[in-house]
Amino acid sequence: MTSTKSTPDVRVLATAAQATTTVARLFKKIVNEAVRMRGECTVALAGGTTPHALYQELAAHVFDADVPWQHVEVFFGDERNVPHDHVESNYHMAQRSLLDYVPISPDRVHPMSADADDLQVAANEYEQIVRRIVPAGESGIPQFDLILLGMGGDGHTASLFPHTEALGEAERLVVSQHVPVLGRSRMTVTFPLINAARHVILLVTGDDKAEVAAGLLSDDPTQREEIPAASVAPTDGKLTIVLDSPAARQTDLKATEL
Ligand code: 6PG
Repeated sequence: MTSTKSTPDVRVLATAAQATTTVARLFKKIVNEAVRMRGECTVALAGGTTPHALYQELAAHVFDADVPWQHVEVFFGDERNVPHDHVESNYHMAQRSLLDYVPISPDRVHPMSADADDLQVAANEYEQIVRRIVPAGESGIPQFDLILLGMGGDGHTASLFPHTEALGEAERLVVSQHVPVLGRSRMTVTFPLINAARHVILLVTGDDKAEVAAGLLSDDPTQREEIPAASVAPTDGKLTIVLDSPAARQTDLKATEL
Protein backbone atom coordinates (compact mmCIF):
# COMPACT_ATOMS: atom_id res chain seq x y z
CA MET A 1 0.00 0.00 0.00
CA THR A 2 1.55 3.28 -1.03
CA SER A 3 1.40 5.97 1.57
CA THR A 4 -0.03 9.17 0.22
CA LYS A 5 0.29 11.16 3.42
CA SER A 6 -1.05 14.54 2.43
CA THR A 7 -0.10 17.71 4.23
CA PRO A 8 -2.76 18.81 6.69
CA ASP A 9 -5.27 21.46 5.74
CA VAL A 10 -4.88 24.08 8.48
CA ARG A 11 -7.67 26.61 9.05
CA VAL A 12 -7.60 29.47 11.54
CA LEU A 13 -10.83 31.29 12.39
CA ALA A 14 -11.10 34.42 14.51
CA THR A 15 -13.20 32.87 17.28
CA ALA A 16 -13.95 29.48 18.82
CA ALA A 17 -17.53 29.84 17.58
CA GLN A 18 -16.34 30.30 14.00
CA ALA A 19 -13.91 27.39 14.35
CA THR A 20 -16.79 25.27 15.65
CA THR A 21 -19.04 26.25 12.75
CA THR A 22 -16.24 25.44 10.31
CA VAL A 23 -15.95 21.95 11.77
CA ALA A 24 -19.74 21.51 11.83
CA ARG A 25 -19.89 22.34 8.12
CA LEU A 26 -17.03 19.92 7.34
CA PHE A 27 -18.65 17.24 9.52
CA LYS A 28 -21.89 17.53 7.53
CA LYS A 29 -20.02 17.47 4.21
CA ILE A 30 -18.07 14.34 5.15
CA VAL A 31 -21.11 12.50 6.52
CA ASN A 32 -23.28 13.30 3.48
CA GLU A 33 -20.48 12.31 1.09
CA ALA A 34 -19.94 8.98 2.90
CA VAL A 35 -23.66 8.16 2.91
CA ARG A 36 -23.98 9.14 -0.75
CA MET A 37 -20.99 6.99 -1.74
CA ARG A 38 -21.35 4.03 0.62
CA GLY A 39 -24.79 4.21 2.18
CA GLU A 40 -23.42 4.75 5.67
CA CYS A 41 -20.93 6.82 7.66
CA THR A 42 -18.72 5.74 10.56
CA VAL A 43 -17.64 8.49 12.98
CA ALA A 44 -15.55 8.51 16.15
CA LEU A 45 -16.38 11.45 18.40
CA ALA A 46 -13.89 13.39 20.51
CA GLY A 47 -14.26 14.00 24.20
CA GLY A 48 -13.19 16.80 26.49
CA THR A 49 -14.81 20.23 26.51
CA THR A 50 -13.90 21.69 23.12
CA PRO A 51 -16.34 19.62 21.02
CA HIS A 52 -19.30 20.34 23.32
CA ALA A 53 -20.27 23.46 21.35
CA LEU A 54 -19.78 21.55 18.09
CA TYR A 55 -22.18 18.81 19.18
CA GLN A 56 -24.72 21.41 20.28
CA GLU A 57 -24.45 23.12 16.88
CA LEU A 58 -24.93 19.80 15.05
CA ALA A 59 -27.94 19.03 17.26
CA ALA A 60 -29.44 22.49 16.74
CA HIS A 61 -29.60 21.96 12.97
CA VAL A 62 -31.10 18.50 13.18
CA PHE A 63 -34.40 19.78 11.85
CA ASP A 64 -32.60 20.97 8.70
CA ALA A 65 -32.24 17.21 8.13
CA ASP A 66 -28.80 18.15 6.85
CA VAL A 67 -27.13 15.11 8.43
CA PRO A 68 -28.52 11.62 7.58
CA TRP A 69 -28.14 10.46 11.19
CA GLN A 70 -30.08 7.26 10.49
CA HIS A 71 -27.10 6.10 8.41
CA VAL A 72 -24.39 7.07 10.91
CA GLU A 73 -22.53 4.72 13.28
CA VAL A 74 -21.08 6.63 16.25
CA PHE A 75 -18.01 5.48 18.14
CA PHE A 76 -15.70 7.27 20.58
CA GLY A 77 -12.00 8.08 20.36
CA ASP A 78 -11.47 7.67 24.08
CA GLU A 79 -13.22 7.41 27.41
CA ARG A 80 -12.50 8.05 31.03
CA ASN A 81 -12.76 5.25 33.61
CA VAL A 82 -16.17 6.37 34.86
CA PRO A 83 -19.72 5.07 34.28
CA HIS A 84 -21.55 6.29 31.17
CA ASP A 85 -23.85 8.48 33.29
CA HIS A 86 -20.95 10.21 35.03
CA VAL A 87 -20.44 13.91 34.34
CA GLU A 88 -16.82 13.21 33.30
CA SER A 89 -17.82 10.61 30.72
CA ASN A 90 -17.16 11.57 27.09
CA TYR A 91 -20.17 9.48 26.11
CA HIS A 92 -22.31 11.38 28.65
CA MET A 93 -21.16 14.70 27.21
CA ALA A 94 -21.92 13.63 23.62
CA GLN A 95 -25.26 12.14 24.66
CA ARG A 96 -26.41 15.28 26.45
CA SER A 97 -25.23 17.71 23.75
CA LEU A 98 -25.93 15.73 20.57
CA LEU A 99 -27.08 12.11 20.65
CA ASP A 100 -30.24 12.79 22.66
CA TYR A 101 -31.34 15.26 19.96
CA VAL A 102 -30.68 13.52 16.65
CA PRO A 103 -32.57 10.61 15.04
CA ILE A 104 -29.86 7.98 15.58
CA SER A 105 -30.76 4.49 16.72
CA PRO A 106 -29.20 3.59 20.11
CA ASP A 107 -27.81 0.39 18.60
CA ARG A 108 -25.72 2.55 16.25
CA VAL A 109 -24.06 4.34 19.18
CA HIS A 110 -21.06 2.47 20.66
CA PRO A 111 -19.81 3.88 23.98
CA MET A 112 -16.53 2.57 25.40
CA SER A 113 -16.80 0.70 28.70
CA ALA A 114 -13.78 2.32 30.28
CA ASP A 115 -15.00 1.55 33.80
CA ALA A 116 -15.07 -2.22 33.28
CA ASP A 117 -13.41 -4.46 35.86
CA ASP A 118 -10.90 -5.71 33.28
CA LEU A 119 -10.00 -2.75 31.08
CA GLN A 120 -7.81 -4.75 28.71
CA VAL A 121 -10.66 -7.17 28.00
CA ALA A 122 -13.01 -4.21 27.53
CA ALA A 123 -10.57 -2.58 25.10
CA ASN A 124 -10.26 -5.81 23.12
CA GLU A 125 -14.04 -6.13 23.01
CA TYR A 126 -14.36 -2.56 21.75
CA GLU A 127 -11.80 -3.26 19.07
CA GLN A 128 -13.84 -6.26 17.94
CA ILE A 129 -16.95 -4.06 17.64
CA VAL A 130 -14.95 -1.59 15.54
CA ARG A 131 -13.64 -4.40 13.35
CA ARG A 132 -17.15 -5.84 12.94
CA ILE A 133 -18.88 -2.59 12.00
CA VAL A 134 -16.29 -0.30 10.39
CA PRO A 135 -15.33 -1.54 6.91
CA ALA A 136 -11.60 -2.14 6.44
CA GLY A 137 -9.57 -0.07 4.03
CA GLU A 138 -6.79 -1.37 1.75
CA SER A 139 -4.57 -1.81 4.81
CA GLY A 140 -7.04 -4.24 6.36
CA ILE A 141 -7.55 -1.78 9.23
CA PRO A 142 -11.10 -0.45 9.84
CA GLN A 143 -11.33 2.84 7.95
CA PHE A 144 -13.48 5.41 9.73
CA ASP A 145 -15.05 8.01 7.49
CA LEU A 146 -14.32 10.59 10.17
CA ILE A 147 -12.42 10.72 13.44
CA LEU A 148 -12.86 13.90 15.46
CA LEU A 149 -10.01 14.74 17.84
CA GLY A 150 -9.08 17.45 20.31
CA MET A 151 -5.69 18.22 21.81
CA GLY A 152 -4.70 18.81 25.40
CA GLY A 153 -2.24 21.44 26.56
CA ASP A 154 0.40 18.71 26.77
CA GLY A 155 -0.24 17.70 23.18
CA HIS A 156 -2.21 14.56 23.95
CA THR A 157 -5.01 13.53 21.64
CA ALA A 158 -7.73 11.01 22.40
CA SER A 159 -6.08 9.49 25.49
CA LEU A 160 -2.67 9.17 23.85
CA PHE A 161 -0.68 11.07 26.46
CA PRO A 162 3.02 11.95 26.31
CA HIS A 163 5.37 9.21 27.58
CA THR A 164 2.65 6.53 27.69
CA GLU A 165 2.88 3.04 26.26
CA ALA A 166 -0.07 3.44 23.90
CA LEU A 167 1.87 5.98 21.80
CA GLY A 168 4.00 3.19 20.37
CA GLU A 169 1.17 0.68 19.87
CA ALA A 170 1.49 -0.59 16.31
CA GLU A 171 -0.96 -3.52 16.26
CA ARG A 172 -3.89 -3.05 18.62
CA LEU A 173 -6.52 -0.50 17.56
CA VAL A 174 -7.99 0.14 21.02
CA VAL A 175 -6.14 -0.08 24.33
CA SER A 176 -6.63 0.80 27.96
CA GLN A 177 -3.77 2.30 29.87
CA HIS A 178 -2.95 3.94 33.17
CA VAL A 179 -2.13 7.62 32.61
CA PRO A 180 0.30 8.65 35.38
CA VAL A 181 -0.24 12.39 34.89
CA LEU A 182 -3.94 11.84 35.58
CA GLY A 183 -3.54 9.06 38.13
CA ARG A 184 -6.38 7.37 36.24
CA SER A 185 -6.89 4.79 33.51
CA ARG A 186 -8.28 5.63 30.10
CA MET A 187 -9.46 3.67 27.07
CA THR A 188 -8.29 5.05 23.73
CA VAL A 189 -7.99 4.40 20.03
CA THR A 190 -4.40 4.09 18.84
CA PHE A 191 -2.54 5.69 15.94
CA PRO A 192 -2.95 2.70 13.60
CA LEU A 193 -6.73 3.22 13.78
CA ILE A 194 -6.59 7.04 13.69
CA ASN A 195 -4.24 7.07 10.70
CA ALA A 196 -6.37 4.60 8.75
CA ALA A 197 -9.29 7.07 8.64
CA ARG A 198 -10.52 8.81 5.50
CA HIS A 199 -10.81 12.11 7.34
CA VAL A 200 -9.44 13.29 10.68
CA ILE A 201 -10.45 16.67 12.08
CA LEU A 202 -8.39 18.12 14.93
CA LEU A 203 -10.22 21.01 16.61
CA VAL A 204 -8.05 23.19 18.87
CA THR A 205 -9.31 26.38 20.49
CA GLY A 206 -8.34 28.60 23.35
CA ASP A 207 -5.39 30.64 24.48
CA ASP A 208 -4.21 27.80 26.71
CA LYS A 209 -3.43 25.72 23.61
CA ALA A 210 -1.28 28.41 21.93
CA GLU A 211 2.11 26.98 22.92
CA VAL A 212 1.34 23.38 22.06
CA ALA A 213 -0.40 24.43 18.83
CA ALA A 214 2.74 26.33 17.79
CA GLY A 215 4.77 23.18 18.45
CA LEU A 216 2.29 21.03 16.54
CA LEU A 217 2.43 23.32 13.49
CA SER A 218 6.16 23.99 13.69
CA ASP A 219 8.38 23.08 10.74
CA ASP A 220 10.98 21.94 13.28
CA PRO A 221 10.55 18.19 13.91
CA THR A 222 12.18 18.51 17.34
CA GLN A 223 9.30 20.82 18.28
CA ARG A 224 6.77 18.15 17.27
CA GLU A 225 8.41 15.02 18.60
CA GLU A 226 7.09 15.44 22.16
CA ILE A 227 3.54 16.18 20.95
CA PRO A 228 1.41 13.03 20.51
CA ALA A 229 -1.08 14.89 18.27
CA ALA A 230 1.79 15.43 15.80
CA SER A 231 1.61 11.68 15.06
CA VAL A 232 -1.87 12.12 13.59
CA ALA A 233 -1.05 11.64 9.90
CA PRO A 234 -3.67 9.67 7.96
CA THR A 235 -1.90 7.27 5.59
CA ASP A 236 -4.41 7.63 2.78
CA GLY A 237 -6.75 10.15 4.34
CA LYS A 238 -7.11 13.84 4.97
CA LEU A 239 -6.20 15.71 8.16
CA THR A 240 -7.86 19.05 8.76
CA ILE A 241 -6.64 21.11 11.72
CA VAL A 242 -9.02 23.89 12.77
CA LEU A 243 -7.95 26.50 15.31
CA ASP A 244 -9.25 29.78 16.62
CA SER A 245 -6.98 32.85 16.71
CA PRO A 246 -6.15 32.54 20.43
CA ALA A 247 -4.88 28.98 19.90
CA ALA A 248 -2.96 30.08 16.78
CA ARG A 249 -1.48 33.26 18.30
CA GLN A 250 2.08 31.85 18.54
CA THR A 251 2.06 30.85 14.88
CA ASP A 252 2.30 33.09 11.83
CA LEU A 253 -1.12 31.87 10.68
CA LYS A 254 -3.81 34.49 10.25
CA ALA A 255 -7.55 33.98 10.60
CA THR A 256 -9.60 33.57 7.43
CA GLU A 257 -13.23 34.38 6.92
CA LEU A 258 -15.79 31.82 8.02
C1 6PG B 1 -10.60 13.65 26.76
C2 6PG B 1 -10.45 13.95 25.30
C3 6PG B 1 -9.11 14.56 25.09
C4 6PG B 1 -9.39 15.98 24.74
C5 6PG B 1 -8.25 16.84 25.15
C6 6PG B 1 -8.61 18.32 25.02
O1 6PG B 1 -11.11 12.59 27.11
O2 6PG B 1 -10.23 14.55 27.52
O3 6PG B 1 -10.74 12.98 24.47
O4 6PG B 1 -8.28 14.00 24.15
O5 6PG B 1 -9.62 16.11 23.36
O6 6PG B 1 -7.97 16.55 26.51
O7 6PG B 1 -9.59 18.55 25.97
P1 6PG B 1 -10.38 19.94 26.01
O8 6PG B 1 -11.21 19.98 24.76
O9 6PG B 1 -11.21 19.83 27.25
O10 6PG B 1 -9.35 21.03 26.04
